Amino acid sequence: MTSRVAVVTGSNKGIGFSIVRALCKQFDGDVYLTARDEERGKKAVEDLEEEGLHPKFHQLDITNQKSIDNLQKYLKDKYGGLDVLVNNASIAYKVKDVTPFAEQAKYTIACNFTGTLDVCKALLPLIKPHGRVVNVASGSGTRALDKMSSERASKFKALDLTETELVSLLEDFVNAASDGTHTEKGYPNSAYGTSKAGVIVLTGIQARDLKNDPREDILINACCPGHVQTDMSSHQGTKTPDEGAETPVYLALLPPNAGQPQGEMLSDKKIVKWR
Ligand SMILES: NC(=O)c1ccc[n+]([C@@H]2O[C@H](COP(=O)([O-])OP(=O)(O)OC[C@H]3O[C@@H](n4cnc5c(N)ncnc54)[C@H](OP(=O)(O)O)[C@@H]3O)[C@@H](O)[C@H]2O)c1
Repeated sequence: MTSRVAVVTGSNKGIGFSIVRALCKQFDGDVYLTARDEERGKKAVEDLEEEGLHPKFHQLDITNQKSIDNLQKYLKDKYGGLDVLVNNASIAYKVKDVTPFAEQAKYTIACNFTGTLDVCKALLPLIKPHGRVVNVASGSGTRALDKMSSERASKFKALDLTETELVSLLEDFVNAASDGTHTEKGYPNSAYGTSKAGVIVLTGIQARDLKNDPREDILINACCPGHVQTDMSSHQGTKTPDEGAETPVYLALLPPNAGQPQGEMLSDKKIVKWR
């Protein structure tokens, strides 16, 4: 029998690294630390080996379709599927960054939303019965939904919104940011927040779509890790990376037939209402 397998995206540092550390201790199967940069990824694996842990490594750049396809093929050939996927990889421009907003919007949506979606498109079909998928979002995403005009928010929150319609909304945000009309059109002035709003809404759609899926007991949820001391937060924050990993790991290890949460957004292991 092939062993069970878990994959964590963007896990050469920060919260992703801590998720791998926790899964190595608690998950009964192979745990893949993945990184866009092979050298940084392999160094991170060595660091965990020094702690007596045994993660495996695979390259993955979530903005590169070829890289995603390579991982998909590898998992299919070696394991015949996937048991746990944690979509953790993201970027965030610093507040002081002078990169024009249009460019920030383009690259942030491309990585945090579209990259996560592309990984899901490739790997969700591989998820085995009782599999768990965790999309690491952010409280910034729920705040972005709150900051939208009511007309704009109602589009994101529509119960029958499809994945294709959500993709169009995010494309519209990027286009509006490029001609400076995003706030006029009811979007918040945050590329990161909007990307994470997209991830939260996407998670709900993916869970709804699973209702028509013959595979048994697959749970998919989004979460906020909290305000965590990592490079992304310039090491500000109330939580260590290991503490930030707790809610994602809790969702990744929900016991068989737990039934819920499903399609929710969680913070500190509790459901956050956003609709
Ligand atoms: N820190 C917080 O306070 C906080 C709060 C709310 C939510 N979050 C979320 O928690 C998650 C982890 O954040 P963090 O604080 O640990 O950030 P981090 O320290 O900046 O780590 C981000 C990780 O994502 C990787 N990454 C970026 N772009 C990638 C790509 N295209 N393909 C593959 N990997 C990529 C980075 O790789 P490189 O080393 O190659 O750049 C790095 O390993 C993110 O989803 C973030 O939005 C964090």
